[in-house]
Amino acid sequence: MKAIYPGTFDPITNGHIDIAERAVSFLDELIVAVAKKPSKNCFFSYPERLGLVQEALSSISKIKVLGFEGLVVDFARIQKSNAIIRGLRTMSDFEYEFKMALTNKNLSPEIETLFLMTHPQYSFMSSQLIKEIAFLGGDLANFLPPEVLKAVNQKRNEG
Ligand code: COA
Repeated sequence: MKAIYPGTFDPITNGHIDIAERAVSFLDELIVAVAKKPSKNCFFSYPERLGLVQEALSSISKIKVLGFEGLVVDFARIQKSNAIIRGLRTMSDFEYEFKMALTNKNLSPEIETLFLMTHPQYSFMSSQLIKEIAFLGGDLANFLPPEVLKAVNQKRNEG
């Protein structure tokens, strides 16, 4: 089975990597799909987000990293994939993810959304929180892979 793992990845965190690693363990191929123009304002540009995801996942076989624009279900169809992977952290995620999964099901009934429970170690984490900790000078080594940590610190020093 081939699945898509879409996200903004602003930036990719150890929580995302944990989901991707666990998903490939039961898939033939996982396409990590980086949204070019997400609805939220991003800290990293699209090329930066894409590059960091590529670097962070380069050692995992069966993973391909691609950018996408438009609807996730359309991209899934183009990639000949009929599954979407998403991580679930908290009850608030559930409401958002439930709406998104049902909308996608409505748009494309042949595509299933599969949820993986986020590892408890990362269940409180979010990209927003990470950016806040970075700007307040906190230690992010437990939350980010080294190359992302470096990019966040660089951005902080520029800003
Ligand atoms: N561990 C820790 N944190 C996690 C996590 C995990 N396993 N999984 C997600 N997160 C966090 C992220 O850090 C991020 O935090 P933030 O909100 O503070 O930035 C948040 O959860 C969600 O980010 P992400 O997983 O990157 O996805 P997203 O919700 O931003 O984007 C898209 C999802 C790209 C599919 C969607 O927004 C989109 O653009 N879709 C295209 C249009 C479309 O198809 N619309 C119809 C859909 S109904």
